[in-house]
Amino acid sequence: MTKSNSIDTRGVARSSGPSYQSVIASDRVAAPSVLSEVAYEWIDNDEIDIARYVSQEYHDLEAARLWPKTWQMACRLEHIPNVGDFYVYEVCDVSLIVVRSSDHEVRAFHNSCLHRGTALAEGSGNKQLIKCPFHGFTWGLDGQFKGMPAQWDFPHIDRDDFCLPEAKVALWGGFVMVNPDSSATPFEDYAAPLTDHFKPYPQEDRYLAHHACQVVDANWKATQEAFMEGYHVSTTHPHTLRFANDLDCAYDILGSNVSRLLQAVGIPANHLIDEVSQAEVASTMQKMLPKDHRQTVPEDVDARAWLSDRFRASLSEQWRCDLSHTSDAEMLDSIQYFLFPNFSPWGGYAIPITYRFRPWQNDPNKSLMEIMRLHPIPRDGEFVTAQAHWLEPGESWANAPGFEQLGIVIDQDMANLPLVQKGLRAAKQKNLNLSDYQEVRLRHFHQRLNETLAD
Ligand code: FES
Ligand SMILES: [Fe+2]
Repeated sequence: MTKSNSIDTRGVARSSGPSYQSVIASDRVAAPSVLSEVAYEWIDNDEIDIARYVSQEYHDLEAARLWPKTWQMACRLEHIPNVGDFYVYEVCDVSLIVVRSSDHEVRAFHNSCLHRGTALAEGSGNKQLIKCPFHGFTWGLDGQFKGMPAQWDFPHIDRDDFCLPEAKVALWGGFVMVNPDSSATPFEDYAAPLTDHFKPYPQEDRYLAHHACQVVDANWKATQEAFMEGYHVSTTHPHTLRFANDLDCAYDILGSNVSRLLQAVGIPANHLIDEVSQAEVASTMQKMLPKDHRQTVPEDVDARAWLSDRFRASLSEQWRCDLSHTSDAEMLDSIQYFLFPNFSPWGGYAIPITYRFRPWQNDPNKSLMEIMRLHPIPRDGEFVTAQAHWLEPGESWANAPGFEQLGIVIDQDMANLPLVQKGLRAAKQKNLNLSDYQEVRLRHFHQRLNETLAD
């Protein structure tokens, strides 16, 4: 293998089209300042071994060292609105009972009875006491021990010192974030600057409108990485090139655990700029709106400005909220953030989703992919929290409520993944060969993974 560039030119090359920052600089309604930041840095991580996607040994290492000590999104606050509501979050052998322990407090307990280890809860529901189903050891919602049958037989147990072990909990943007490691770095430090970047579109003002899940025949990292770059768009989603730029996406490494992708939408891919008119961009993209929200496209249309008006009006009506203050970028673009190791909330309003990826049980060849749609809370405050919709393996995402349009694009991504895993298992080469710029988020992710597993 040859290297044509010296170290000091790695990551410098760019596509010849308009940068994301130049697109938003000429928008009619200015984007939030965080979207103008450029925070790319080349990451010297050329040797990402394929074994990490296919070996049980590597999976077991992640089970022992990654999931038990990183911050992860367990659920939304809407899942546990009332005191006593609980939601069990699980990944590999980690199992946490996330509980609304009081009006203003959420706790997360390790889901293992202090008697003989039985799991104390499954799924979700409401309980005022956490009582083991085996012999009846019981704890309060604050984790304090309440008692057991035949207490005379346990003289060695100090009730006051017999609390359920707790994970760390942080509330951000309506998400319940958990870290099984009680000595972990505080979430605010771990996640910087994610929380600052989301100030223009507070996620706590949203609710879980739709939630779909599917077990995928690929390692969780391969599944996640299929959604971290725009490089695959021209081959996997060619129809989108007529209204979304692909090779000029911006990639930023914003913090130790945070990266992002920004894609300009409402303009064609750069190589189609002479072929696709502004009117075609506008008419193609407005097909995403309900029929009675579409309008005749003016001949001299500025597609980005016109489309952002159309989407602003339509989504305000569909979601019963006021989006009149939003910028063009927030109404149209893909603004995708990532928090190591597996949480990807999107900014703006165009695609109001959040991804979460996990291994499926303890199989390195399978993963669980979830997408949550978070819509603004309507002005009347009325909403229903979505139940998770489980798609069968291989079933179209367009079958999931709320994913009728986006599902077609997700299906294109999903079609690749079994082939990715099959090819990784068949590989004779030792490493991946990632690009310097467009796949920098993968480089960064694996750098953090290496560091975490080495600790
Ligand atoms: S295992 Fe829980 S009470 Fe016995
Ligand atoms: Fe894709």
